Amino acid sequence: MLENWILTILVSVGVGSILVLVAAFMLVKHNAYAKIFWNEIVLEKITNFVMDQSKEQRILNTVSYNAVKGDPESVMKCIDKYCSQYEWAMNVGDEKGLILDKIVEEADPSVVLELGTYCGYSAIRIARLLKPKARLLTIEFNPEFASIAKEIIDIAGLSDKVTILEGHSEDIIPQLKKKYEVETLDFVFLDHWKERYAPDTVLLEECGLLRKGSILLADNVVFPGAPEFLKYVRNNQRFECTSYPSHLEYMQVEDAMEKAVYLG
Ligand SMILES: C[S@@+](CC[C@H](N)C(=O)[O-])C[C@H]1O[C@@H](n2cnc3c(N)ncnc32)[C@H](O)[C@@H]1O
Repeated sequence: MLENWILTILVSVGVGSILVLVAAFMLVKHNAYAKIFWNEIVLEKITNFVMDQSKEQRILNTVSYNAVKGDPESVMKCIDKYCSQYEWAMNVGDEKGLILDKIVEEADPSVVLELGTYCGYSAIRIARLLKPKARLLTIEFNPEFASIAKEIIDIAGLSDKVTILEGHSEDIIPQLKKKYEVETLDFVFLDHWKERYAPDTVLLEECGLLRKGSILLADNVVFPGAPEFLKYVRNNQRFECTSYPSHLEYMQVEDAMEKAVYLG
């Protein structure tokens, strides 16, 4: 009798565990938040511990070993391959990258600001399209990311076009005019933490950094989403907005970019 009870308990625990594992697997397969949680929190932390290095260092390593020095396309390809096949990372990626390329080419900017450098992927995408003498300032508050981006941008051969400004966007934006000799910005790529999109847009206006025709392009306005920013620019007569539906980098999850042209 007792043995039957023990057997029943063991079978129930076994079946329960399998069901929990299947549910977790299905969640990770079909839910973007679960997938990112699994990749960024579980897998990445374990890999970092085992390899004693960060994912961003691994991205730098793959670029150092595999990319052709001085060739931005090969650096971008290398990062896209690594992040789509091995470890997900928050670069704008190849699909939305094409939208970014198109808007940069149309704008043909002389002075560009990027908010959120990370490993330098989008900085490379933008800088490779800039005309001679045009420049890109890119802001990053994480010192490790800033230093890795510097190396990757150097491998791409674009260091003369890109300046990484280390610090918080909210501290650096007010210094752009005096310290970095920016009169106005032709193009701004917003790709830092999403809750900063709206306040930093207001700050750019307050600091007199936008001129009639300045273009703001914001990534991830659907996933994870930037509702305050969308509310601000879409309900504002000073901006003319266009949405570019796409997918989250390296995933089949709906996302979009928002272009907001400043009308002055
Ligand atoms: C999505 S990643 C940028 C990806 C990069 N634009 C690309 O596509 O290759 C966001 C980056 O913004 C940085 N960041 C977030 N909030 C910031 C802030 N307020 N000021 C400066 N950097 C910030 C984070 O450390 C992170 O590296």
